[in-house]
Amino acid sequence: MCGIIGYIGHRNVEEVLLKGLQTLEYRGYDSAGVVLLDSNGTAQVQKCVGKVQNLIVQCKKAPVNDALCGMGHTRWATHGGVTNLNAHPHQSGKVTLIHNGIIENYQELANEYHLADQVISETDTEVVAALLNRFYEGDPVKTIRTVASKLKGTYAFGIIFSDIKDKLFAIRHVSPIIAGVGKDKKEAFLSSDVTALSEYVADYFVIPEDVVTILEAGKITLLDACDQEVFVNHLTIDWETGAIGKNGYEFYMEKEIMEQPQVIVNTVMPRCKDGLPDLSVDHIPDDIWTKYEKITIIACGTAMHAGLVAKNLMQSLLRLPVTVEIASEYIYSDPVIDDTTLVIAISQSGETIDTLEAVRYARKHGADNLSIVNVKGSTIARESQFVLYTNAGPEIAVASTKAYITQLVSLYILICQMAYMRGIFLKEKAMQFMSSLLALPGQIEQVLADRASVHALTKDMIGAKDLFMIGRGLDYTALLEGSLKLKEISYIHSEAYASGELKHGTIALITPETPVITLITQKKLASKELSNAIEVKARGAKVVMLTTKAIPLEDPSQWEHIYYLPALPSEFMIFPAVVALQLIAFYVSKEKGLDVDKPRNLAKVVTVE
Ligand code: G6P
Repeated sequence: MCGIIGYIGHRNVEEVLLKGLQTLEYRGYDSAGVVLLDSNGTAQVQKCVGKVQNLIVQCKKAPVNDALCGMGHTRWATHGGVTNLNAHPHQSGKVTLIHNGIIENYQELANEYHLADQVISETDTEVVAALLNRFYEGDPVKTIRTVASKLKGTYAFGIIFSDIKDKLFAIRHVSPIIAGVGKDKKEAFLSSDVTALSEYVADYFVIPEDVVTILEAGKITLLDACDQEVFVNHLTIDWETGAIGKNGYEFYMEKEIMEQPQVIVNTVMPRCKDGLPDLSVDHIPDDIWTKYEKITIIACGTAMHAGLVAKNLMQSLLRLPVTVEIASEYIYSDPVIDDTTLVIAISQSGETIDTLEAVRYARKHGADNLSIVNVKGSTIARESQFVLYTNAGPEIAVASTKAYITQLVSLYILICQMAYMRGIFLKEKAMQFMSSLLALPGQIEQVLADRASVHALTKDMIGAKDLFMIGRGLDYTALLEGSLKLKEISYIHSEAYASGELKHGTIALITPETPVITLITQKKLASKELSNAIEVKARGAKVVMLTTKAIPLEDPSQWEHIYYLPALPSEFMIFPAVVALQLIAFYVSKEKGLDVDKPRNLAKVVTVE
C-alpha cells in the first residue's frame, strides 16, 4: 500500500523521485505527489489524482531543478476519497509529511489539540502533519518522538522540516520502509521497497520500528528513544536492475508469465542435490519434516490459493491433516494452536499485514512456523522462525503469476522432503518427483509457445458479464487462482466452482451468455468433471475445455473450444493449467483495453488490515 521514495544528494532530486514513483507505482496508484525542498527553504508540493504519469506532466510545467532533497508518494486511499486534496504530501507550517499506514486515533488527536481549522483534507495523515507542526520548536528528533508517542495505528513516515535543508527524517511503526546510502557515499535514499533503490545502492536496511531516522547526503543515522545510535544489519541487493524493466513486453504481467520457466529453475535447482530434495540452503532443521502431526497454512489472495494446492497434496500424499486459513480471519477464529502443528505462512511481498499478524499470533501461542516468502529481508521473513525464499525475483504486476508458481514449486519440494523423510517416498519415488519438478520449465514453455491458441479461446469471454470456472480436486484449486486472475484484471465477475456442487443452486445462473471454463486434468475425477461440463453445456453455456490427451473423451468434436495441455502426472497438471488460465486472464484484460498491470482499486502490497 502506498509507495514512498525519499532522496537527498547531488542528482536532480525531482528526476530521482519521479522515476522512483514510477517503479513503486504498483503499490498504489490512485494519486501521486512530490515535495521538493529548494535552496531558499521552500518546500514545493505538486500532487494530483491518477497515475504517476499525470504527476510527471504536471511537474514538467514547473520543474524544480535546484532542489536539495525531496520525497514522493503514490497513494492507495484509506481515509478520504481519491482527490487532489487528499493526495500526499501533506503540509502544515514548516512540516511536510508522507505516510503509508493508518492512524487510528487521528480524530481524537484533532479534537484534543484543536487542529480542525488547520486540516483541510479528509486524511489521517494531515492531522499528524499539523501535530508535528504544533510541537515543532526547532528540534526535529524530539518533535517526531513526541508525536509518535501519541499515535495509535501503523505508519511509515517521511518528513521534511523546511528550515532544515540538509536532512530528511523518517520513522515507522509496523508499516515497512527501507533506507540506503548511495554507492558513491554522497547520497541517501528512503523507499517502501528495494525495487526503487536497486539502481543506486549496493546495500540497504529495513528501518527498525520506532527509531528516528535521519538521512543526510552520504549518511544515515538511527536514534533510539535514549538518543543512542542504533546499528542494523544491511542486506545486499541481489536482484539485477534489469530484472525490474519490462524487457520489451508491453506489460509486466506478460513478462512475468513468460519468466515462469526460469523462476522455477531458480527456485528448484538450489534445493535439489543428487536428484533428491535438499533444503540445506534454507538452514531448516531436519526434524521439522517429521515432527508435526498437523499443518496450518496461512496466507492471502494468490498465496492462499497456493496453500490450497498444498493441502490437497499433503493430505493425499502425506496423510497429514491440513487446514488453510485466510490470514485476515485466522486470529479472530480462536484457532487451536499446539506444538504438534506447523504453521506455514505464504507471502510474495512478506509484508501483507494480515499474514504478518497471523504469524505473530501463531508464534505467540507456541506454534512453530515456516514462511515461504519472495522478498528477502521482508517483515514476515524476519519475524518467522524458518524461511524458504522463492526465487521469483521482483514481481511488479499487481496480479501475481511467477511468484505463485514459485510458491507452488516450493511447497512441492517441502512435500517431497516430508514424504522422503517420513518414509512415504522411497528414494526412487522422491527422485522421480523431483525430476517431474525439473521437467516443468520445458512443459510450461510449450504452453507459452502456443499462447496464440490460448488467446483464441478468449473470444466469447471479452464481452461476458459473468463467467464460471468448474472442476474438482486439484483442478478446482487451479481454477480458484485462474478466476481470481480474471476478475482482478478484466473486471468480469468470475466464479470458480467445485463442479459437483454446481447443481445445488448455482447452475440456475448458467445461460447461453455465461461462458464456462472447465478444467479436466485429474484422471480419477475426469469422468465426473466431464459429466458436470455436459450439464452446463446442456443449459446453453459456451464451454471452453482445458484438458490433456491422457484423458479419454468420448466425443471430442462436441466441444467447440478445447485446448490440450501437455500431459503430465496428475499432481503436476496444475502447473501448465494455471499458466493457461493466467494467459486467458491476460488476453481478456488486454483485449478490453484495460491497464493489465494496475487494475482498479488494487495494490500489490497490502499493509493495512
Ligand atoms: C494482494 C495482491 C495479491 C496477493 C495478495 C497477498 O492482494 O494483489 O496478488 O496474492 O495481496 O500478497 P502476498 O504479498 O502476501 O503474497
